[in-house]
Amino acid sequence: SGPETRTPTGAPTTAPQDAVAQQGHYLTTAQGVPLADTDHSLKAGRRGPVLLQDHHLREKITHFDHERIPERVVHARGAAAHGHFVANGEAEKYTAAAFLKAGTVTDTFVRFSTVLGSRGSADTARDTRGFATKFYTTEGVYDLVGNNIPVFFIQDAIKFPDIIHAGKPHPDREIPQAQSAHDTFWDFVSLHTEAQHHTIWNMSDRALPRSYRMMQGFGIHTFRLVNADGATVLVKFHWRPRLGTHGLVWEEAQLIAGKDPDYHRRDLADAIEAGAYPEWDFAIQVFPDTEDQLFAGIDLLDPTKLVPEELAPLKVIGTMTLDRNPLNYFDETEQVAFHPGHLVPGIDVTSDPLLQGRLFSYLDTQITRLGGPNFAQIPINRPHADVNDMLRDGLHQDAVHSGVAPYRPNSLDGGCPFPAALHGDEGAQAFIDVPQPVQQDVVTRAQPASFDDHFSQARQFYRSLTPIEQQHVKQAYSFELGKVYEQTIKERELQALVNIDVDLAAFVAEQLGLDVPAASENVPDTDPSGALSMITDDEWPV
Ligand code: HEM
Repeated sequence: SGPETRTPTGAPTTAPQDAVAQQGHYLTTAQGVPLADTDHSLKAGRRGPVLLQDHHLREKITHFDHERIPERVVHARGAAAHGHFVANGEAEKYTAAAFLKAGTVTDTFVRFSTVLGSRGSADTARDTRGFATKFYTTEGVYDLVGNNIPVFFIQDAIKFPDIIHAGKPHPDREIPQAQSAHDTFWDFVSLHTEAQHHTIWNMSDRALPRSYRMMQGFGIHTFRLVNADGATVLVKFHWRPRLGTHGLVWEEAQLIAGKDPDYHRRDLADAIEAGAYPEWDFAIQVFPDTEDQLFAGIDLLDPTKLVPEELAPLKVIGTMTLDRNPLNYFDETEQVAFHPGHLVPGIDVTSDPLLQGRLFSYLDTQITRLGGPNFAQIPINRPHADVNDMLRDGLHQDAVHSGVAPYRPNSLDGGCPFPAALHGDEGAQAFIDVPQPVQQDVVTRAQPASFDDHFSQARQFYRSLTPIEQQHVKQAYSFELGKVYEQTIKERELQALVNIDVDLAAFVAEQLGLDVPAASENVPDTDPSGALSMITDDEWPV
């Protein structure tokens, strides 16, 4: 037998029998037959031909032929690490989730990624970064699938294929790789001005992180927490790196992309190997669960908006440490399957139309990417909690299910009983803890008017930057738009920029050799800064 793999908390994160697979004392076939030679095919005579009956030859090459699985359709390039999360109990009054109770230690697995580049692209490309965390809680897996930028490009998931088609390399030349310097990207974000807020973050140093260890993470959407009494609040989730948030400058990012395209994954793995374990505080912003789901005039269901921390301060609810590198990139980092719908009792979704679409997309794509519906049985995806489902058969079914009656109720073998109450007499109601009203008489594709302001928060972000950070943003727009071929696209983006900030637009226009357009009339401005005093600790909703 080989070494067991355990976290500092003592729980096996990769089941020991999986960790020691392929660790025998001599070479064998996949069937365990000992092999004396793996370098020469079986031939008819020394000069051949090669014989079909050489099973080892065929098994070796056939398996190799099928080694690649499709890369993720987005976030293809990533690096990951194991760790653990310790709750401080500050969230207990808001949520019944067991892993957030004071002192609870939960194993985690985190995958950081770029969004647009392919699996082999450079780490330091200008891009949003993924920050996806799997919590292996006693109540099942909880995934927080976030990014390092607090807002998203679009407001409705139905546009996700469009923004990604626009952001990925052009279909004809397959360029550029992992950059926003191209016509289709700017075409999309200038036509869908809701993307301007995310785009200005992309043009800032936030899109060039110094290290995965020095990156903030955001759940972006508003979620609903439900406590043991059924009381609810709305929250946004934040990860705050203990090392601080740091960026590269563009020239560094470009040089590193050439000299060490693996810069971020090397940095993460080396730091962990050296015992310099990165840590993040996990925090929430809390808002009252009002009927209109607005806070300080900001629509909490609009994922292109954030709530400034001056208006809703962060409350730290625990800390995560990453302290173990994966044993095998493919088995863990590549095969891990995150899903915003992997929720535990006490954490509910809201009706954010971007989040609702995500709830469909991840499972759907993983059925293709991971070869069928049984990928929850892959060691990295297995819950650290009992599993007793009624899911049967299918490709890559590894479980040997006992019993004859995978339905309930049944009178034969007990089947799958509901759990004893986890939270009160009613038992846990995973996925929806509290019923929510819907507008039953209206079916519409229209959005609320509160989704129409596309520029105030982009302006607010730009004006919150220091002069040198603003200069980086100006140069980034100039560089990226300088690569665009179509003049009409550059002009349309300048129109969006002038609605954000005239000085910014004037700089970029000059660099591009174009005129500065006049600002559009009636640009909504709901910038709430200064409009409200900060919510104080004793005014917190619950
Ligand atoms: C993958 C974040 C919106 C579809 C990912 C990953 C992250 C992420 C971090 C990589 C997970 C990993 O490391 O394995 C986000 C955030 C969003 C967002 C923060 C908005 C707030 C969407 C939307 C859709 C979508 C709207 C589709 C409608 C996907 C798909 C994958 C993915 C298909 C690949 C999943 C896989 O192959 O396992 N996303 N995403 N995402 N996302 Fe999103």
